[in-house]
Amino acid sequence: MIQHLLTTRGLPSHTLTTLIERATAFKNQNTHYPSFSKHRAASLFYEPSTRTFMSFTLAASHLSLPLIPLNMQYSSEKKGEAFIDTLQNLSAMGIELCVVRHPDSHIFNHLSSNLPAHLHLINAGDGQHEHPSQALLDLMTIQEAKSHLTDLRIAIVGNLKHSRVTHSFQHLCATVGIKHLTLIAPPIWQPAQLHHGQTTDSLAEGLKDADVVMVLRIQQERLSANERFSIEAYQTHYQLNAKTLKYAKPDAIVLHPGPINRNIEITNEVTDGPQSYILKQVQNGVFMRMAILEEILK
Ligand code: NCD
Repeated sequence: MIQHLLTTRGLPSHTLTTLIERATAFKNQNTHYPSFSKHRAASLFYEPSTRTFMSFTLAASHLSLPLIPLNMQYSSEKKGEAFIDTLQNLSAMGIELCVVRHPDSHIFNHLSSNLPAHLHLINAGDGQHEHPSQALLDLMTIQEAKSHLTDLRIAIVGNLKHSRVTHSFQHLCATVGIKHLTLIAPPIWQPAQLHHGQTTDSLAEGLKDADVVMVLRIQQERLSANERFSIEAYQTHYQLNAKTLKYAKPDAIVLHPGPINRNIEITNEVTDGPQSYILKQVQNGVFMRMAILEEILK
């Protein structure tokens, strides 16, 4: 059992194994769906989301868990209420779990002393910090496609500096002991901090013999004004297309956390091609989020 899911850093490996096993069992209908109908949860999304929001909502619905969305446009935080007060008020009403997406990378820091004891938090993406449930569903998808996780060559290409998905994924790779994780980005997007693996600015080098290629979205909204960036140059050197995918193994699988900028960081032929596991990730997201909700509430 875990109290919160705010980070994948230090997630015990037995918890990781349980989450993947339970998510897989839910997917393969090898287990009944438990009912959490006596519990109450809320979702607080301060940033846009399609996959994460809908899959948490569907996951809760499969578990008979009322997950009530707070419409952030009309929340009292618009009147200046502090995030911690919102959480305390929801808890006072009987909400036991909040799924939170927030643009602030530090939103969950310093909460612990004021956080109601019985309130569970799930980080559904906090700024440029972490996105634990995405990394977990990515690992589940990789495990489903490939058997020996530790020996795999995994490559991630894109905006490593701003990617919360990559931070959470690196921590999981450290726990699993993935030997070959290569992070590929142009010099301006090299990560400030490396948690696991190695970096390169060469797509050819980074993709060489990869079993798994994860492409990240060009996050236009996170490009600060002083970051000189040319989409054309990025496409020339870092786009995943039929030609550059050939650097990887012929049976490599392609992942992307979404949303995709079609024909920008990845071409349509790859997005929609036979090696793409992108919609499998989306499908697995529902089952992984069921496993996460169960692990916290059980
Ligand atoms: C990611 C996110 O919002 O962190 N998407 C997602 O949750 N599936 C990645 C992104 O926005 O680029």
